[in-house]
Amino acid sequence: MKDLFGNALLDYQNGNYSEDIITSTSISDDDVLPLPYLFRDYKDMPKLEQHALKLCKGTVLDVGCGSGSHSLYLQKKGFTVKAIDISKGAIDVAKQRGVLNTQVKNILDETEKFDTILLLMNGTGIFQELVHVSKHLTHLKNLLIPNGQILMDSSDIKYMYDDDDGGVWRDTNSTYYGELDYFLSYKGKKETPIKWLYLDFKTLKLVSETVGLKCELVMEGEHFDYLAKLIPL
Ligand SMILES: C[S@@+](CC[C@H](N)C(=O)[O-])C[C@H]1O[C@@H](n2cnc3c(N)ncnc32)[C@H](O)[C@@H]1O
Repeated sequence: MKDLFGNALLDYQNGNYSEDIITSTSISDDDVLPLPYLFRDYKDMPKLEQHALKLCKGTVLDVGCGSGSHSLYLQKKGFTVKAIDISKGAIDVAKQRGVLNTQVKNILDETEKFDTILLLMNGTGIFQELVHVSKHLTHLKNLLIPNGQILMDSSDIKYMYDDDDGGVWRDTNSTYYGELDYFLSYKGKKETPIKWLYLDFKTLKLVSETVGLKCELVMEGEHFDYLAKLIPL
């Protein structure tokens, strides 16, 4: 990983903002990811994220914290928060912005326990492929203090396969339709492609139940997105 995402966050944080990140996927063309969005404050967050923050309780683990926007909000509200990310640049920025407890870490290497585990901005993305979801959910469940909760958002991206006539061009024999190849470039450099998973609620709920988690639909967004709360059965 070249950590172009982290480099972009560092540029923005250090006053060197000149370009946005460009993303594309195996099923979609280039899209602009504006750097200011990755530094959003509470009022600019989607309602799903605002609601997730309202549901937080006890000690919180912010997984894939990015620049630390959610952690900072929670910290200011008095929560004890730990923010982790695999991007060193992201963690440097989160620290610079004032997140007190940060670590460059893959979620699968986390061992501490928390009352709330937060995964936001398509939180299921880090699971990468459907086949890895139960491994991740089992791990997250093991990181929960009794009565703890996992809050995550994602989207059902079936709509992205609709053609103009209302038909669907998805190859139903292929892999799960929410498994995408994700491409990112910044300032003309290309990041190593990654897998990124969008998981519809029904599938998340099904997998959750197989690993002993009750999965509740907390809120639906305006565009096939949703917030889910998972608690041990
Ligand atoms: C879409 S960004 C979301 C950032 C932040 N949560 C936000 O809402 O602005 C996803 C983040 O997850 C991090 N990430 C990806 N895989 C991860 C993993 N296995 N463990 C921890 N962080 C991961 C990425 O480096 C990136 O910062």
